Amino acid sequence: MRKKRIAILGSTGSIGVNTLRVIAAYPERFEAVALTALNSVKELDRQIRQFRPKYVAVGQQHVAVLKKAHARLKVLDVAQDLAQIVTSADIDIVIIAMTGAAALDPFLAAVRAGKTVAPANKEALVMAGDILMAEARKYGATVIPVDSEQSAIFQCLQGRDMKDVHLVHLTASGGALRDVPRSRHDKLSVRQILAHPRWKMGAKITVDSATLMNKGFEVIEARRLFAVAAEKIKVVVHPEAIVHSMVEFTDGSILAQLGVTDMRLPIQYALTYPERLSTGTTRLDFAKLGTLTFEEPDLRKFPSLQLAYDVLERDGLAPAVLNAADEVAVEAFLGGRIRFTQIYAVVERTVAAHMKGSECRKVGIDQIRQADVWARQRATEEIERL
Ligand SMILES: NC(=O)c1ccc[n+]([C@@H]2O[C@H](COP(=O)([O-])OP(=O)(O)OC[C@H]3O[C@@H](n4cnc5c(N)ncnc54)[C@H](OP(=O)(O)O)[C@@H]3O)[C@@H](O)[C@H]2O)c1
Repeated sequence: MRKKRIAILGSTGSIGVNTLRVIAAYPERFEAVALTALNSVKELDRQIRQFRPKYVAVGQQHVAVLKKAHARLKVLDVAQDLAQIVTSADIDIVIIAMTGAAALDPFLAAVRAGKTVAPANKEALVMAGDILMAEARKYGATVIPVDSEQSAIFQCLQGRDMKDVHLVHLTASGGALRDVPRSRHDKLSVRQILAHPRWKMGAKITVDSATLMNKGFEVIEARRLFAVAAEKIKVVVHPEAIVHSMVEFTDGSILAQLGVTDMRLPIQYALTYPERLSTGTTRLDFAKLGTLTFEEPDLRKFPSLQLAYDVLERDGLAPAVLNAADEVAVEAFLGGRIRFTQIYAVVERTVAAHMKGSECRKVGIDQIRQADVWARQRATEEIERL
């Protein structure tokens, strides 16, 4: 069997490292052909020595260092050359494990090259999911989600007809602040917010989990990936994070995907799909688990989730604005420039300003890029006004 040749965009992050663990567990099946990072040169260097990729890409200022250390390696600029990597004939599967809107262009390039694309990144799908999925269909690309909730829905939908879907139940662990009253949210340190109770993830997505914006993004992501109507996507808080999501069919039957909270499961499934292999992770023991609990999300305490539904209803460029404003606001929070509850304030004001303006009817990729630039500028101004 020929090895599957994999590009990991964002190999030094939480998803990237877990993808490499999966690859390392099956060296006879997978090969890491391209690895990329922004600034984590030391970790990237370690990965290069272990996995011997053909291509790497890194922030421009680090290119010379890596070239010097690895004379025969093709070292590229991560801001310019990701499209070149993902469209290369040497690549079968592109894992999009990098954060943020920067993933949009390589995602688009990969689907246009007809690759198998496995996005953990949700920002690109929020911004331009309809275009990405339409291009995937047009160019015969396969999109297999890695985000655990979307992977769960994808698995529950295998062999099903979308017309039979009554509801998608998107589970949310509730984030670090589920049991913390809103009045205390601004008193918590960045470090406390980053201590997610269930998943060990990068800083941006952990903050988004605490505001529930992450779940809002996932509602939009599910709408794009599975073409399911927004009113059919229901969020339910499930603190144990064992049920990764469910699909309810017209007859009342519900299929759920369950598993331990280990990202290697959805990552490996995307790499082996439709086959399944052992992951070496611990297995669920229902008797030990005892109880699984579910509750309504508290939209007053976490208004970001409702904002995402409102944005999806407006659609057009609004999701791209939501995403860009959130990226700017979360970065400001992580940098200690705004308080936790001000993340929502900045995002909501930016989205409101967009919605007040006249809506552009044509939503092409260029309009999305312009909306992204506009929203970043506006969110920065909103931060200055606070
Ligand atoms: N972690 C999870 O469990 C999880 C679950 C579901 C979905 N996701 C999604 O997966 C994506 C990655 O999450 P993560 O938790 O793995 O993030 P992370 O740990 O912060 O890693 C991000 C990776 O992307 C690279 N990167 C950051 N900005 C970049 C840019 N502008 N251009 C190119 N590369 C860039 C980073 O490089 P450096 O190391 O050099 O900074 C790093 O390799 C996010 O979109 C997130 O929403 C993550």
